[in-house]
Amino acid sequence: MKRSRRASAGRRARRRAAVSPEALVAAARGARGRAYAPYSLYQVGAAALTPDGAVFVGANVENASYGLSMCAERVAIFQAAAAGHRKVRAVAVVTAGPAPAAPCGACRQVMAEFSVEVVYLATPHGTFRRRSLRHLLPEAFTAADLTKGT
Ligand code: THU
Repeated sequence: MKRSRRASAGRRARRRAAVSPEALVAAARGARGRAYAPYSLYQVGAAALTPDGAVFVGANVENASYGLSMCAERVAIFQAAAAGHRKVRAVAVVTAGPAPAAPCGACRQVMAEFSVEVVYLATPHGTFRRRSLRHLLPEAFTAADLTKGT
């Protein structure tokens, strides 16, 4: 009994600490300050949580050629993907204003690609809202659709 308790404590020690929604939102709030948004002046921060507890942050990065600008959510998710992760469990997004904004359509599609389940929508201070990706993007187009026809 004693030995198995020690063994499971060891496994716990090797595992990453669980990341709470509050901690994920805090990471996104921190990232928002690093946004490069000289054109819109609309700063967005994001944080992506992988199933094994790794957190990747992002902020929007704009360009003088406006269409090249990149949303904070995709920066965070692509950071996770480039580090080798193929699943992202949750994404936190922080936008300015009295109420949090929901992610743009392109970001929702990228979230679907990496199997995001939950999105936390927050403002720089205060509480946040929880939304399922199923709610934000019902009937998503996925890799499964590619195998359905020629
Ligand atoms: N933006 C995001 O970072 N995430 C979204 O979901 C919507 C919009 C950024 C893109 C651009 O830099 C600025 O906000 C204004 O659209």
